[in-house]
Amino acid sequence: MAVTIPAYAKLNLTLDVLGRRADGYHDLKMVMQSVSLADRVTLERTGGEGISVRTNLGFLPCDQRNLAWMAASAFGRGTGKAVDGLAITIEKQIPVCAGTAGGSSDAAAVLRGLNDLYQTGLTPAELAELGAQVGSDVPYCVAGGTALAEGRGERLTPLPGLPVCWLVLCKPSFSVSTPELFHAADAARLRCHPDTDGVVRALEQGDLPALARRMYNVFEDVLPPPRIGEIRTVKNVLLGHGALGACMSGTGPTVFGLFQRREEAESAFSCLRERYAETFLTCPVERWTGA
Ligand code: C5P
Repeated sequence: MAVTIPAYAKLNLTLDVLGRRADGYHDLKMVMQSVSLADRVTLERTGGEGISVRTNLGFLPCDQRNLAWMAASAFGRGTGKAVDGLAITIEKQIPVCAGTAGGSSDAAAVLRGLNDLYQTGLTPAELAELGAQVGSDVPYCVAGGTALAEGRGERLTPLPGLPVCWLVLCKPSFSVSTPELFHAADAARLRCHPDTDGVVRALEQGDLPALARRMYNVFEDVLPPPRIGEIRTVKNVLLGHGALGACMSGTGPTVFGLFQRREEAESAFSCLRERYAETFLTCPVERWTGA
């Protein structure tokens, strides 16, 4: 018995840090969007023992540190099912440590897949609750699509989907530590905040240019200066090829541009691909409704 589930990458159309909480996490307000760049997660009941994880990237941990492994374990605890002899195979396409929720999306795919495999009939909201035990982005990744995420990231409000458009993703080669970036945001006086309510209104009106103009991520302001420079360079290439807007996703370093015209997205993609191996041309993916 096996199931294969796509695990889509996510982008932050906006990301705002509202403040540090007593539990050490931060209250956030952000608009999230799934895109067609995806890992493939296959779950198989082998009849053996324990949970095993394999991926096509040799440097990824395959034990309890892997979010997919944690999700299977959380599913077992939450449902009382003995998740034993489970083989998880992840074919990675989404860049690792890139601000695009690759690991969280794999974990969410494991929860959806196990719900099928064990016929547990959990709703997307119940799966999201299990996902919150694994990581802050996992609840969103269970259903994906276009959503407002608040609180730690687990308070989700579905939003109308994006009008037809293309998104070019480009990951510069440096990596960013998530806790360090939150720390830098605490220490800094954030001067700019995204107009998230304006983005929600633009989505309701299907107004892509109004949405693109308002995309912003507060973490762009607190990166070390050389990194800010590289993010700006990529943004300028995207905008120079006709992107309506460009923004960093999550804690970075992936930058994306939003395009109304496919030809312009293709030309930005070809240009950036020459310099950055991890460049992708994608389109938005709608919310999974559990059907
Ligand atoms: O929840 P997750 O394990 O993905 O979070 C990774 C780290 O990001 C946390 O340890 C914390 O430092 C930071 N974080 C935060 N506030 C959030 C989400 C994440 O401070 N809402």
